[in-house]
Parts: sequence; C-alpha cells; structure tokens
Amino acid sequence: MASPVISFQDYGFQYMAQSEPTLHHINLDIYPGEKVLIAGTSGSGKSTIGNCINGLIPFAYPGNKTGRLLVDGKEVEQSSIFELSHTVGTVLQDTDGQFIGLTVGEDIAFALENDCVPQDEMKQTVDKSSGSAWQGLWWKRSRLCCLMNLWRIWTRQRAGPRLN
Ligand SMILES: Nc1ncnc2c1ncn2[C@@H]1O[C@H](COP(=O)(O)OP(=O)(O)OP(=O)(O)O)[C@@H](O)[C@H]1O
Ligand SMILES: [Mg+2]
Repeated sequence: MASPVISFQDYGFQYMAQSEPTLHHINLDIYPGEKVLIAGTSGSGKSTIGNCINGLIPFAYPGNKTGRLLVDGKEVEQSSIFELSHTVGTVLQDTDGQFIGLTVGEDIAFALENDCVPQDEMKQTVDKSSGSAWQGLWWKRSRLCCLMNLWRIWTRQRAGPRLN
C-alpha cells in the first residue's frame, strides 16, 4: 500500500500570539490521489491546517507545535518553504488575486523564474505546458482587448459626461 503524502501524527499548533493552541491532536493521513475536504466554522483552523502543510507554519508564522507532520515523507521542520513549494501548491480563496500575468504562459514562467530555471529551459517548459500556438494567439488577443479598452476609455473621456 502507498504511504501517505501528508501525515499529521497527534499534531498540535499554537500561534505565538495566541494563548491557546489552534490545532489539537490532529491525526490525519492523506494518500496520493485522494481529494480531501476540510470543513468547519469560521476560525476553526482550516487555513491553519493548510499553512502547516505548505510550510508558512512554522517558517512565516512562528508558534509551538506538538506531534509530527510529514509531507512527502519528510518532517516539515526539516524542510524549507522553497523545498516544500516543489511538492505543495496553495490556491487562495480569492483565486483571481493569485494571477501574476495576463496569460497562463506568463504565470508558468513566473514560477520557473522563482526556481531560477535557465531561460532556454523555461521557454521550452512554457511551450510544452501551455501549448505555444494557442498561447501566442491568446497573448495577442489579450493585448488587443487591453488596447480596445484603453481606446474606449479615452474616447469616452473626450466626449465628456453623458446624461441619460
Ligand atoms: N497568523 C496568525 N497569528 C495568530 N493567530 C492566528 C493567525 N492566523 C490565524 N489565527 C487564529 O487561529 C484561529 C484559526 O484561524 P484560521 O484562519 O485557521 O480559521 P479558518 O477555519 O480558516 O477560518 P475561515 O473560515 O474564516 O477562513 C483563529 O482564532 C485565528 O484568530
Ligand atoms: Mg480560512
């Protein structure tokens, strides 16, 4: 049987700024390919669990932990945010706010830039992952839409306020 890709073992966490632990005695194994929904009331600790998995806890939000959390077989504390980012991806609640570029290709390139991938390799990966022909068309289309919107705003401003 495959081993869990995420394993909380009697895990607890208390933020430095809190007087009580937010997570208590969590025992949870998530296996490759599983889709798991974590549901709960506001403030119950769902985002905190996510931040434990992606390494924001403990690397960005310090606190006291008990028990163990293994991601891809390795204790999170023995890893780093950079190392974890190769295994864990995080989609935020406001997904639109997470896009950096205007196209899928730009966003793929952004992630590769952060990983210091050489430009030649980066271009190949972007082409392979996003489909270069469609990507090129989409790129031109989004630039054209942008120019058309600017044109519309400019002509409206020149026409002055409209009463209707
Ligand atoms: N960076 C932080 N420092 C201190 N306390 C925090 C921090 N982030 C969250 N908390 C506290 O931890 C508890 C759980 O918060 P969390 O954001 O994980 O809940 P949630 O279930 O994701 O809530 P929501 O459904 O509103 O997103 C709350 O009491 C919150 O105030
Ligand atoms: Mg949340």
